[in-house]
Amino acid sequence: MSATPYSVLIIGCGNIAGGFDMARSLKQPPLSHAGAYVRHAGFRLAACVEPDDARRIAFAQHWGVETHAAELQALRALPGCFDVISICSPTDVHHEHLAHAIALRPRLIFCEKPITSDPESASRLVRECQELGISLAVNYSRRWDPFLDDLLIQMQEGRWGRLRSVVGHYSKGMLNNGGHMVDLLRRLVGPMTLVSAACAELDFCESDPTVAALLTSEDGRTPVYLNPAHARDFAFFELELVCEFGVIRMLTGGMEWQLREAIPSPQFNGYRTLGESKLIQGRYLETMGRAIQNLHAHLAHNAPLGCSGEEALLTQKMCISIQQSAINAD
Ligand SMILES: NC(=O)c1ccc[n+]([C@@H]2O[C@H](COP(=O)([O-])OP(=O)(O)OC[C@H]3O[C@@H](n4cnc5c(N)ncnc54)[C@H](O)[C@@H]3O)[C@@H](O)[C@H]2O)c1
Repeated sequence: MSATPYSVLIIGCGNIAGGFDMARSLKQPPLSHAGAYVRHAGFRLAACVEPDDARRIAFAQHWGVETHAAELQALRALPGCFDVISICSPTDVHHEHLAHAIALRPRLIFCEKPITSDPESASRLVRECQELGISLAVNYSRRWDPFLDDLLIQMQEGRWGRLRSVVGHYSKGMLNNGGHMVDLLRRLVGPMTLVSAACAELDFCESDPTVAALLTSEDGRTPVYLNPAHARDFAFFELELVCEFGVIRMLTGGMEWQLREAIPSPQFNGYRTLGESKLIQGRYLETMGRAIQNLHAHLAHNAPLGCSGEEALLTQKMCISIQQSAINAD
């Protein structure tokens, strides 16, 4: 742990910045940037920016933030003032906030997903960070889910046999929530090729339709279906992995997992069937805390980032090409 805690600026003081944790006890795992920084002795919340006065003042008081302002310029911050900048503003202003953050030359930027709304500005900003030696991490949160880390190892070791097919259910926009699904699938399946996409539906944001799609694994043998739900009905982010030796289901965004292993059928001689389902508590609630630990390890010991800007850019580009293909098909 560094003797002096890393100073942090948070841009945007809504839910993911700290709101998700304002009514939670410090004994519970953090679900927000501020909630995770204050639980880690290696960071200090130095400043925050938020145009909504009441929200900003409540945020600054709750999290003990020393300096706050309605807009970035009003901070009059000089380059090098902050070690870390968290970007938690709405997605359509990420490009402006990333550019400003880069000008402040922090050691690390932790940006909410997606990097920006368009791949051109995202590519440019990722490149600028690389050129200036600023580390960029992006919060595709399941990159820090330890249950998924274990599952990946099991799959790589052959515990579940061949991956036959995948269905990912999501809603609230291809880029917004679909990005979490595509990022998760890129980890579990590896590089994928888009076969077709259709049925673009504006269920959440005017510029970000939720779409249906079929992709395949790199060898063309594993189909991957993106299956849309509608944001107005209920929150839905679930995954089903059909494998040679059983079926794995991620439920409620990773809060729980259901495992069913293939067994000899008790009724039909010579057949195999799925055994009883085992419900296991997931570890999704640990992700924000682990993300902040990872940022600290990166700053202090150069540990690799769980989700770098380059990785997030690949996810964003894939989301945009899936979405564009659906729009063109409709
Ligand atoms: N990783 C995740 O699981 C996850 C979850 C929720 C949200 N997000 C992402 O986080 C971002 C914010 O989402 P949210 O749900 O917290 O939204 P929110 O609306 O709760 O918070 C955004 C805040 O930014 C403020 N803001 C608006 N314009 C600003 C400006 N110019 N400068 C500074 N602040 C400004 C708003 O007033 C608001 O308080 C989005 O990009 C979203 O995609 C990610």
